[in-house]
Amino acid sequence: AYTPRVFSGIQPSGGLTLGNYLGAIKRFVEMQDSGVETIYCVVDLHAITVWQDPEALPRQTRELAAGYIAAGLDPEKSILFNQSQVAEHAQLAWIFNCVARMGWMSRMTQWKDKAGKNQQNASLGLFAYPSLMAADILLYHATHVPVGEDQKQHLELTRDIALKFNHDYKTDFFPITEPVIEGAATRVMSLRDGSKKMSKSDPSDASRINMTDDADTIAKKIRKAKTDPDALPSEAKGLEDRPEARNLVNIFAALSESSIDEVLRDVGGKQFSEFKPMLAELAVNKLAPISSEMERLMQDQAEIDRILRGGAARARAIAAPILQRTYDIVGM
Ligand code: ADP
Ligand code: NA
Repeated sequence: AYTPRVFSGIQPSGGLTLGNYLGAIKRFVEMQDSGVETIYCVVDLHAITVWQDPEALPRQTRELAAGYIAAGLDPEKSILFNQSQVAEHAQLAWIFNCVARMGWMSRMTQWKDKAGKNQQNASLGLFAYPSLMAADILLYHATHVPVGEDQKQHLELTRDIALKFNHDYKTDFFPITEPVIEGAATRVMSLRDGSKKMSKSDPSDASRINMTDDADTIAKKIRKAKTDPDALPSEAKGLEDRPEARNLVNIFAALSESSIDEVLRDVGGKQFSEFKPMLAELAVNKLAPISSEMERLMQDQAEIDRILRGGAARARAIAAPILQRTYDIVGM
């Protein structure tokens, strides 16, 4: 009995990648036009779970907001805002820190990957990241969350937090949110290592395609992408055990809005020497207009700030009563 509502967010932790575009932003835009209320956040509180230069963070925040808008998010149709401007996120996260269990957090693969071998030296915020994420979502009673595959486990934890809260406090106040992980590119892999995801948070991976790369850079990165010597298959099952080939076909399918099978019907039998230039041309055609619009928007930073402030006011109008009601339920 919850009104359908979409929420998602991206960290302002560096330049947007093709993975963020295909796995998240492009799908945010599709959902905006589906008639349901859509709320999209720049999650700066998440970004600082690892070190962010305070001189750079404001620019990264504005650049992500510009990326949202340039890709087609309309600040009139969607609520676009920056997380730290709505204090209720941190307030609800604290409640959820008291609902979630240490063992749940310890099992998160993103925690294990990002903390690495030196867990004792990771921030407490990095460990509690999924609890803040649950707060982001449940603060709006969001029912649907479009994300890439890497966020699946965190969304399961969001459901566990809502279930435990509802159970412990004998209520049905929080909805059990559905992840929306759809499309051909729910996990875009690194172009130099088909076993690692492409991520803006991994500065060591120079092969990643940034949304602001120029045409030559995109073409060069695709040309250099790791592949195998075989021709492309004409059916999807021919991509099994060929992670690099599969990744490039997935990217092509997502960019051209076709299925894997449709792509392979056209390119099956081709060598990568022929397919890579086709993919580069497609990527440039899709990304260039977005990156030039981002650049234009970044000329007027005051306007971006104005949009984010307006979005924060609209977000707070939904969030404040939900936090208040949560406090009531908890007995505060
Ligand atoms: P990153 O890992 O690039 O720093 P975030 O953690 O800010 O990205 O995630 C923002 C959104 O982009 C999430 O929905 C995430 O699932 C999605 N995303 C990130 N990387 C990829 C990828 N390589 N392929 C598909 N989706 C991705
Ligand atoms: Na991520």
